[in-house]
Amino acid sequence: MTLAYINDELHLNGHSLKGLAAQYGTPLFVYDEDALRSQCRRFHSVFEGEALDYSISYASKAFTSIQMVKLLEEENMKLDVVSAGELYMALEAGFPAADIHFHGNNKTAEEIEYALEMGIGLFVVDAVDEVALIDRLADHPVDVLLRINPGIDVNTHSYIQTGQEDSKFGLSIHNGTAESAIDMIHKSDKLNFKGVHYHLGSQISEEGPFLKALDVVFEWLSNASIDVEILNMGGGYGVRYTEADVRFPIEEGFSRIIGKLKTLAAEYDIALPHIMIEPGRSIAAEAGTTIYEVGVVKDIPGVSRYVSIDGGMSDHIRTPLYDAEYEVLTVEAGDGESIDSHVVGKLCESGDIIGKNLSLPDDISRGDLVAVATTGAYHYSMASNYNQMRKPAVVFVTEDDVREVIRRQSLKQLVQNDVI
Ligand code: LLP
Repeated sequence: MTLAYINDELHLNGHSLKGLAAQYGTPLFVYDEDALRSQCRRFHSVFEGEALDYSISYASKAFTSIQMVKLLEEENMKLDVVSAGELYMALEAGFPAADIHFHGNNKTAEEIEYALEMGIGLFVVDAVDEVALIDRLADHPVDVLLRINPGIDVNTHSYIQTGQEDSKFGLSIHNGTAESAIDMIHKSDKLNFKGVHYHLGSQISEEGPFLKALDVVFEWLSNASIDVEILNMGGGYGVRYTEADVRFPIEEGFSRIIGKLKTLAAEYDIALPHIMIEPGRSIAAEAGTTIYEVGVVKDIPGVSRYVSIDGGMSDHIRTPLYDAEYEVLTVEAGDGESIDSHVVGKLCESGDIIGKNLSLPDDISRGDLVAVATTGAYHYSMASNYNQMRKPAVVFVTEDDVREVIRRQSLKQLVQNDVI
């Protein structure tokens, strides 16, 4: 977001990437903390002054850490978690349990017990079987939303579509399973039915699918005479990875979504429920940049050039997994010729690719630094120890501060669970 060349050297929020790499090593994730905060504030500002009750819940899966959770609490966000691990992270950061929502299509009994014991605010029930499971495990009343599947197809990668009829997520509103789950919830004396949730998919660039979902869901709620106190519209607001991507227009898009909500509430003569949304990517993605150091540069004359960096699919899985495209910038701006290059990682897989056919200076060589923009969401959080790579460090920068928020994994940590 605030990546800029100053005196031919790439800076993030005024900090030299070269300086950060020298201090913290590479690969390194650098987040513009001001950008993280301002995205949270943008989402708040589209609801403030709209005379409706709302909350914004950040999807931890996009990127979580203790300092990230603390920042989110300071920015008045609620938090979604999908595992005992994400819940533990949130609680370790001191996040109020009552503001945590537990998602997931297959919460284990152990996870449910842990969340109940910690007193989390809301369970988002994702299966008929889960109604009985939570009912059996709970020893106190718990508020629940039901994750419904509105059967809306969105135009995004098939791995990140979630609201279509054929999905492991949610209960269909078209074949009666959602209604029977709601009946079951009403029959339980421990589960309080608070409303419904849906998530259409991820990296959605326009409000069309969200408007369509509202039509479908309001009609269903009205026909089935279901009263909801909370309507959770999920996340999925798209960001810009390369110039080809269209960002979800947060201000205009939500002005239409909120307008639609008000119209439908009036049309069906129901009070507007508490509205929740769950952005993840749109808060974190563009705030983050990864810095790598170049190692081997391999020219295959007349064929191609491979520029290898010191990380790869262990910290950047989105290209191998989704064919996602990124911009790769050299940290020092050169004025020489650029040539077509493949930027690849150092892991033992041919698919370990950061970007294909990118334009990079012809004299790029060992020791040079490159930066990959828009890597703040689903990068660190999807990082692995494949090839026993160590997870990188993460730093947050503001205009006048730099702080390490996650240290680089050590070699010792790689064997800490091994029986010796
Ligand atoms: N709420 C629910 C229930 C979700 O399943 C998700 C994402 C979100 C909110 C947040 O969606 P976002 O605003 O971040 O798009 N690893 C994939 C993305 C998987 C998203 C899964 N669910 C990727 O790197 O593109």
